[in-house]
Amino acid sequence: MCGIVGYVGCKQATPVLINTLKKLEYRGYDSAGIAVMNDDEILVRKAKGALRVLTEDITKEVVRLNDKMTGEECDAREAELIAATDKFVKGTIGIGHTRWATHGEPSDINAHPHTNVSGTIAIVHNGIIENYAKLKEQLQAQGIVFKSQTDTEVIAHLVNFFYEQTNDIFEAVKLALKKLEGSYALGVICKDYPDRIIAARKDSPLIVGLGKNENFIASDVPAVLEYTREVYYLDQKELAVVYSDHVDLFTEDGEKIIKEPSHIEWDMAAAKKGGYAHFMLKEIYEQPKALKDTLHPHLVFNGDKAVDIKFDEMDFSSIFENVDRIIITACGTAYHAGVAARYIFEQLTRVPVVVDVASEFRYKNPIISNKDVVIIISQSGETADTLAALRLAKEAGAKVIAITNVVGSTVSREADRVIYTLAGPEIAVASTKAYTTQLMCLYLLALKMAAARNTVSQKDFEYYLEQLELIPDQVEQILKDQSNTQKFASENFNKNKVFYIGRLIDSASSLESALKLKEVSYMHSEAFAAGELKHGPIALIDKETLVVALATQKALYEKINSNVQEVKTRGASTLVICQGDEQVFVKGESADTIIKIPQIEDIFAAITAIIPAQLFAYYCSVLRGIDPDKPKNLAKSVTVE
Ligand code: AGP
Ligand code: GLU
Repeated sequence: MCGIVGYVGCKQATPVLINTLKKLEYRGYDSAGIAVMNDDEILVRKAKGALRVLTEDITKEVVRLNDKMTGEECDAREAELIAATDKFVKGTIGIGHTRWATHGEPSDINAHPHTNVSGTIAIVHNGIIENYAKLKEQLQAQGIVFKSQTDTEVIAHLVNFFYEQTNDIFEAVKLALKKLEGSYALGVICKDYPDRIIAARKDSPLIVGLGKNENFIASDVPAVLEYTREVYYLDQKELAVVYSDHVDLFTEDGEKIIKEPSHIEWDMAAAKKGGYAHFMLKEIYEQPKALKDTLHPHLVFNGDKAVDIKFDEMDFSSIFENVDRIIITACGTAYHAGVAARYIFEQLTRVPVVVDVASEFRYKNPIISNKDVVIIISQSGETADTLAALRLAKEAGAKVIAITNVVGSTVSREADRVIYTLAGPEIAVASTKAYTTQLMCLYLLALKMAAARNTVSQKDFEYYLEQLELIPDQVEQILKDQSNTQKFASENFNKNKVFYIGRLIDSASSLESALKLKEVSYMHSEAFAAGELKHGPIALIDKETLVVALATQKALYEKINSNVQEVKTRGASTLVICQGDEQVFVKGESADTIIKIPQIEDIFAAITAIIPAQLFAYYCSVLRGIDPDKPKNLAKSVTVE
């Protein structure tokens, strides 16, 4: 959600800022802006809309100055134009921002950076200042006239207020932070300090990238990867003073901190489309590899046979003993992985499981004890509600296991134990490979716990490991033969209503399928436990409705076939996604179309069952003329509540 960047070095800052902001576009935004220290003034440019609007705004000045540039829109030309700003905007220090509006509509004025009245201090901010109204009132009482409706602008004036008192920009930022309630990742530049950026964070992510004679700040690693792989992850309430040749880190009280930079293993290729039309499609196709990468490091082999599961040096035995209950909490797709996990853990470990969305969990005064294991699932490791739930669980003395995709993320640093999904960077807003690798981790964890608690025999345990090993190849098989899904999408992308139904773990897959479709195609889609249909939702069924039945649970084939029959009778079109062996569904009777997935033990079908649904959502999106990578109103990383 929103992106912050900053550059201090010997190159012209403008092209670097635009380039790094582009790498954060996937996070979702509605306006963009930069502030560059240019000669003895801070030059601010900001615009509502895509980054391209901002770059045109910047480069037009060059057009006027040089009288030779055109306004062509292709990427190469644009890069050329931005590079040409070197002649005009000389500054080598600057900050940039892509905004996802929380306070004040998306507009040129509300876009960041924001400045103090005299324009000598500029700031970019990601997050929400919860006490902004009170602070604004106090500042207005001193005669300050606000230009924007944002909560952020109070920070610029507050820093200015303390700067006037202390004459020291670091002190001023430090004192201003003490007055702020809410969340922030901040980048600040000041005309009187033309050699540095002050950065700080609380509850919103921020990294410092370490280059050669140049340093960066950014909301996320892909922004700086073209320049460096060495980064500091700022911790809660830490500040950084970033110069071109070094970086100083401080606590909120100004005490110096020494910490080791982290080395980023993955490279830019992982964050590029690599020949695919969209990141979403690329990431769907990366699933066989991501699943293998996530599974294999955890398997212990005897010859060719997987006989055990290991989680590096982490000792889970103390966690698995004396567990009364498992609580799983997360948001969105990660929550759906949790819903699926309830079936997996309860069946394999016989430990009762509670699953809750983190935004509810954190406010419901939850019952948590030190005999509970709390599983936190988050692709980004930065989701505000999920983090709050994690902290609550820790305070209550529960053992917290996190499943995340981002090494160094806040969730990974605050949990007692971490299991990483090795999915590689997920750029598309709609989560695909993160979801299936989360499921893989949950299967592993449930099996390990079941073995420790003797709720599965060694023979069954080894058989289940074989089942897990089948999954990456099965996903590959589904992807190879996906033309039926594409064809089905071409016949149904204009449907007004799409309902997904399923029983047991298929009801979790239904939730995720419906979310995927609504996120990227804007088609109205809902999920129901199939047995619930006749308790209400069936009233909505008519000829305009498509019903997709996820039917992987063999013992319940007949039951779900009856449900499909019921909606068919009432005019709906129907698709059944089922295992290859089934004979119950007959094409042309209850099911208009049948998509078969390879055979697997029922409880392990959650990963393969979702693949056709991901593809269906992707193709509907493209057929409806939508960019699936950047659905409207959505952000990749939801770092505000
Ligand atoms: C998934 O497609 C979403 N865009 C969204 O629901 C996401 O899963 C949710 O915001 C949680 O994110 P996290 O995994 O990074 O915590
Ligand atoms: N709350 C700020 C605003 O609305 C920052 C939003 C963001 O994180 O982009 O401007």
